[in-house]
This record gives sequence, C-alpha cells and structure tokens, in this order.
Amino acid sequence: MPLKVNYGVDYNDDYNVYEDDNYHYDDLYEYENEKRDITHQTKAKQEVIRTGAWRCPICTYDNEDSMSECDICGALRNCLVRISQTGDSTAGGGRCKSSGASVMVKSLFASFRHRAPAKSVAFEAKNDAVLIEDAFIIRRNFQEFLRAFSSQKHQNINIAAPFKFDSPSPDDLVSTRLHSSKLDSKANFKRLSSLDMSTREREKNILIESELGTEGPNSSSASVARDGGVKERDFASDCGIKPEILVSRMRSVSLSSKSRTGNVNEETGTSNLEYKPEAWMIPDQAEDRLSQLNLAIVGHVDSGKSTLSGRLLHLLGRISQKEMHRHEKEAKQQGKGSFAYAWALDESAEERERGITMTVAVAFFNSRKYHVVLLDSPGHRDFVPNMISGATQADAAILVVDASMGSFEAGLDPIGGQTREHALLIRSFGVDQIIVVVNKMDVVEYSQERFEMVKQKLGTFLRSCGFKDSSVLWVPASSMENQNLVATPDERLFSWFHGPCLLDAIDSLQLPARDYSKPLLMPICDIIKSQSQGQVSTCGKLVTGAIRTGSKVLIMPSREVATIRSLERDSQACKIARSGDNVTVNLQGIENNHVTAGGVLCHPDFPVRVSNHLELKILVLDIKIPILSGSQLELHIHHAKEAATVVKILSLLDPKTGKVTKKSPRCILAKQNAVVEVVLQGSVCVEEYAESRALGRVSLRSSGRTVALGLVTQIMKTQ
Ligand code: GTP
Ligand code: MG
Repeated sequence: MPLKVNYGVDYNDDYNVYEDDNYHYDDLYEYENEKRDITHQTKAKQEVIRTGAWRCPICTYDNEDSMSECDICGALRNCLVRISQTGDSTAGGGRCKSSGASVMVKSLFASFRHRAPAKSVAFEAKNDAVLIEDAFIIRRNFQEFLRAFSSQKHQNINIAAPFKFDSPSPDDLVSTRLHSSKLDSKANFKRLSSLDMSTREREKNILIESELGTEGPNSSSASVARDGGVKERDFASDCGIKPEILVSRMRSVSLSSKSRTGNVNEETGTSNLEYKPEAWMIPDQAEDRLSQLNLAIVGHVDSGKSTLSGRLLHLLGRISQKEMHRHEKEAKQQGKGSFAYAWALDESAEERERGITMTVAVAFFNSRKYHVVLLDSPGHRDFVPNMISGATQADAAILVVDASMGSFEAGLDPIGGQTREHALLIRSFGVDQIIVVVNKMDVVEYSQERFEMVKQKLGTFLRSCGFKDSSVLWVPASSMENQNLVATPDERLFSWFHGPCLLDAIDSLQLPARDYSKPLLMPICDIIKSQSQGQVSTCGKLVTGAIRTGSKVLIMPSREVATIRSLERDSQACKIARSGDNVTVNLQGIENNHVTAGGVLCHPDFPVRVSNHLELKILVLDIKIPILSGSQLELHIHHAKEAATVVKILSLLDPKTGKVTKKSPRCILAKQNAVVEVVLQGSVCVEEYAESRALGRVSLRSSGRTVALGLVTQIMKTQ
C-alpha cells in the first residue's frame, strides 16, 4: 500500500491574478519582433517628454532630467536611452539564439563556476531589451500594485522602505568563498581515502556530470565546509579578511546553549570536530541489495500520473489482483470507473471524490536494476507545495504529459500549466535526468505526428530549463491501454517507435552520487506519531551520511537527542540506511512535539544550522509584479515552508556571467538574477548551498505561483 506524505493543504484563491500573463520563454522570434516595436515606442516616448523631465516606462513617474534612474521604482534610465539611440535592439552584436531563460537557469545553477560560456552571445542588448519589454508588460500591473499599496490594503508590502546604497555587496565574499570551497574539495579528496577507489572514482565522475553538467564544487567540498576550522581559515586567507570578522559576518547563526553536544561551536552553530565516517557507513560492494532510486512522478493535473503509477505497480505485482478488483468496484460505484488504477494511490475520500491527487503517495517496486521509490505527486496547482515537498527527494523524474488535443497545450500554458512549473521545480532540486511519458496516446490514435509535435515543443522548453537533450528520454505510452509500460507495445506504436518501454527507460537512468563521507543529514518529510510514550517515527531521504539501529541522532531544530529503535526501508525492516535511502526511522526517547516535518535528523556532533535570516541568489521566473524590498513571499526549503519578507535587494547579476550589474536596485523584474536578503517568520534548518545542495536550495512562491528559484549563499544571524 502506498504511504501518503502529508504536507498540509494549501489553497490559493488568488491564483487568478496571473491569468492574463502571456509571456513565453521560447517565443524568441516573437520576442525579437516585439522588442523592435517596443524600442520604437520607447524612442517616441523619450521625444515627447524631452522637456526637462523623463518618464519612467515602469511606473510612469516623470523624473528630473538629472536623474539617471527612476526616483520611484529605480528603473534605469540609461539603458533605455542607449537602446532608443541605436534604434535597434540587436545593436549589441547580433541576435540571441538561445533562450534567455536557459541562460539564466544555467547561470543560477552553475553559480559556483566562473567559466566562459560555450557560445558567445550579445547579452547586453538583450538584457536591456528584456528590461524594456518587461517594463511595458508589467507597467499596468505595477501601477495597480502601487494603488493597492497606497490604499492600505497591502500594508505589509513596504515599497517605500529606505534603500541603503552604501551597503557592501556580498558578491565579492561569495565568489571568494566559492573559490575557497573549490580548494577545500581538493583537500577533502585526500580525506576520503577510507573509501575504496572504485566508489571514489564513481562519485567523482557522477558529481562532475551532475548539476547541469557543469563543474560546480563537487559535493565532497561540503564535508570540509561543515568542518568550521578548515573552512574559515581558507576563506579568510582568500578574502584577505580577519577570520573573526568572517565568523561574525558569515557564520553568525548560533546554536542555543541548550545543545546536548559539547562539540558544537556556540558562536557559529557548526561542529569543532572533523568528521570521519565509520566503516559500516560505506556500502560494501559485496552487499546484495538493489540500489534505491527515488523517482518523482510529476506533471500537469489529470495527465495520468496516478493511473500510470497504479498500472505499473499492478503490472509488477505490487498490487494484487484482489486489491485491483476492489478499486475497480469502488471506482465504478462512485461513477469514476476510469480512476480505478489511480485509486491505488489516491486513497483519501477527498482525493477520490474530487478525482485529483492532493498529497504525495509513496510506493515501491523493483526494476531489474533498482529498487524504485515512486513519489506520485499532485498535479493540481493548489497542491504544488506538496509536490515540492515530495519531489525534493527525487533522484530522477518522470514528467507525464497528456498527448490529447488541448490537454498538452493546457499543461504547457505559461500561466496555469503545471508541466512548466513542475519541470522548472524538478530542475531546481538538482534533478537532471528526466523521462517524459507522452501518455494517453490512445486518445490520439497513437499518432506519430502528435508525439513528434509534443517532443519538439516540450523539448525546447526543457532545454530552456537546463535539461540536456541526452538526459531526456521520450516514451510514448498509454497507461489505460497498457502500451509501452513494461513491455514492447503493439503494432499501433511499434510501427514507428522502437525506443525503450518505460521500465527499460527507468533502468537506463544513472544513480546520482551518494555522499557517505559527510555527517548524517535527513530532512524530515513526514512524521507518524506513536501511541507509546517517547516514540515517534520520521520519514525522509538521507541526504548524506548513514544511520543504524541503536544510533543516536540529534533532532533539529528542537536540539533533542533520540535513539533509533528500528529502521524501515521500502516497508521492510533493515539495520542500516545510507545516503540516498528513503526510510522510516522509528525513534525512542523523544516526545512527539520535539519532532516536526521540515526538521532534520543529524549526527549529534554535527548539527544542521538554523536561522530565519538568509542571503539568497535567485532567478526570477515569469512574474508580472516586480519583487521589491518588503515583498512577502513563501519560502520552500526541503520539507519546510515559511513566510518570507525580502528585506534587502543587494544586487542584480548578469545572467550570463553572474557578475554584479547593479547594486541595491529597487526592484527585481521577470527573468532577472539577483542577490536578496530575506527574513523568515520562523527559523528553518538550512545549509549554505556550497556546503549542502539539498539543504541550500529554495523556491519562492507567491499567490499560488512559483516566482523564483534560488540558492542559499549565506546564513545570517537570526533576527
Ligand atoms: P492529478 O494527480 O490530480 O494531477 O491527476 P493525475 O495526473 O494523477 O491523473 P489520473 O491518473 O488521476 O488520471 C486522470 C484521468 O485521466 C482519469 O480519468 C484517467 O482514467 C485518465 N487517464 C489516465 N491515463 C490515461 C490513458 O493513458 N488514456 C486515457 N484515455 N485516459 C487516461
Ligand atoms: Mg494523481
């Protein structure tokens, strides 16, 4: 039976705010034409108001001629003038052939490298034009936004907050530290000598290939990064700053004196010890067990994710004939016969009544190569937070799209389409391998033409999200008619498709690197409270390290220590769980209220950091309302969710190079990269991205929509 992961329901009534958005990532040619039109409009505008003032194209405020940026919203005047003078937005040296989104996604996720891009593209002109285009698109909304603000309705949005132009940008620090983390990784390589050579080689190779195929810091750097002493020394010498200043500026989150361990630096919240994995923590090559692959099933509502999952489980013997009969009977009785397979996963009365998945269902099956943990996500936009919580555990994903006419298009719609949002989110969780199941092929009579059309359109978008063509597998299928799931399909598909069936495609996925060299970190996805006093069960995936029965674990953020009474992997008791394993950990010696979903299980000597004040590097998606200092957002990090206020916009970054293009801007527009400081309503367990990718990735949402994806670049003193 699947395990349901509860994350709390999140209804978003305000969603309609975005219904008139019509911006597409991949409408590049349209975009180029529009850009030209806008350039002419801009030119005309500049002429009309050339009498001692210039009108801001964003908020329409008439500024003094001496102002180089808008006094109200901070939009740059210069770039507009520059473009209007050339009269041609391609004047910077040519046409951008690659999607802006693609470049920004790449620059964000590849934020820890400093490498010349493969293709040289004239981006200055493009960026300016994007600014202009966005300026016009958002202008009306911005005015509405200002009106709403001044009408006291949105008092929590403080756009009039004073800006500190003299605040030092953290970018120099960040880039220096990244350099330092690269050095650290070398040092760490030595420290991994306890690992056997083949494991080390494999991890190294996979790490290099992972994360958008870039050479970001390999994750081994984190073990050193979590070792406070080494990190601070290297960082300090690289920056040329006194270590004590760095400590207070960058590692200022403190563990309270309540910590049970004496090895934790009270000032920084990090361990004073050097971590060395014990022998049992490293998997034995001879161990006879399939590797676990965490596979998220994502996609637009009603694309057939649960039906596909149910069908797979049934075909592979995980759902008995008797159970299946029961689902069929019950579904028919409620007049929802077509949902019989979906009901194997959608178990709650409300899910069945509404015919949608609301929480992530976890189920297991074995392929030839893997023990697969299936995470069937909800596709409805109201439940994206639940999808985020489940899919952050994914090693790879199956993106299900509905091939039928109109449905595929609805899923790819830039506003209401969850195909886009899910693909972007999945990529932001570090998933770089994806199987696209073009489902419901029966509805389009197994048309090759339709399949190719879907592949071409969605392929373009996936590329813009940062997925490499070689990491995307395309599988036409019909869950309803059992075509191409676990065996070769019949003639209707086989006449033109000779690729792998879904099960073979799953076996062709590569297991991501598992990190056994670092201390335990297991974000808690869900908890099961026990009737017995002092016992509680937690579910989640080990990000790093290992545990076994009898181990002591530190529960954060409550800072309580508990003992592992037993472990379950795939609903079976087991003795040891290691990095990558999705397990249920039964704890004893702990009160229910000290364990919360969104918390983290850690090694007692190596607590995760806790803070409500973070510096983030963000990539803003297709938003219409700019992000301002004071904007209220919802921050998602592993399984935690907190209300967040943007307290400072530190800088805008060049999407191509990651360099600062403007310090202390007043707002961030669609598709811009920026560094911001946020303060959360409550503290979260967090690590800097350079130290732990899984605990250093965030997504920001507003009004039921993901507005930005980001990385934690600095953990600051709790406010
Ligand atoms: P959410 O979890 O709510 O996002 O939906 P879902 O993607 O899990 O879709 P679900 O499996 O609930 O299926 C939705 C509808 O599509 C049901 O009526 C299914 O019977 C139907 N469906 C699923 N797969 C197929 C298919 O291959 N062919 C046809 N014709 N219908 C299908
Ligand atoms: Mg479903």
